[in-house]
Amino acid sequence: MMKRFRYVSAAVFAAMMAGSGIARADANSTDEGLRVFKAANCVGCHKWTGAGGGGYGGAAANLRKTKLTLEQIELTIRCGRISKGMPHFDPDAYTDGRCYGMKASQLEPGRIPPEADHPLRQADIDAVAKYVVANIKGQGEATLDQCHSFFGAGSRVCDMYAKQDEGGTQHASAEQQETAETHHHMKVEAATDSNAPHQDAEK
Ligand code: HEC
Repeated sequence: MMKRFRYVSAAVFAAMMAGSGIARADANSTDEGLRVFKAANCVGCHKWTGAGGGGYGGAAANLRKTKLTLEQIELTIRCGRISKGMPHFDPDAYTDGRCYGMKASQLEPGRIPPEADHPLRQADIDAVAKYVVANIKGQGEATLDQCHSFFGAGSRVCDMYAKQDEGGTQHASAEQQETAETHHHMKVEAATDSNAPHQDAEK
């Protein structure tokens, strides 16, 4: 009973926060938003940092520098951008005028935003919109901490941010580089070996 009461008041609180335009995601909804950001492959176009950029078939917007409000971000994810590469994640976005008052039949085919490869339910759209506001919008340059929050503590993909944060070559990163080179070298040797048919046969 007590538990249910606490749950309800948390929900009311969240609604108040959303209503006042102060977008603050609690820890749980941030986790959920992060999960969606990965699962819906926002990363594929906007990168894990949200900084976007070219190289993924058109320049995805830099979400770290976005000026959009939570509501506008939610709309953009749900409806995509007409005539642009941002997909719509509501599968029914252009069936009944719910997006920008437009139906697919009213738009030239080339102007309809691409359909998302991973359509989302409204709850997931809300979660990922909150994640963008709480963890990406206005965050400046990506940091090592943010990288670890995204990929998991100690993740090797974050090594490049470690170097940046430490301001240059450090013993640790030099060692890591050596390890990486050794690995690479071993791989090359292995590849050469397997190219020799006689050695393969001997195994
Ligand atoms: C296929 C590539 C692609 C995917 C996947 C994608 N986006 Fe985008 N997104 C874009 C492009 C391109 C733009 C810029 C559109 C424009 O030029 O107005 C954009 C714009 C946005 C904007 C508007 C930013 C602004 O300031 O105008 C938001 C917010 C956004 N994307 C969030 C997301 C989220 C969240 C996801 C995952 C649920 C996602 N995007 C998935 C390509 C993508």
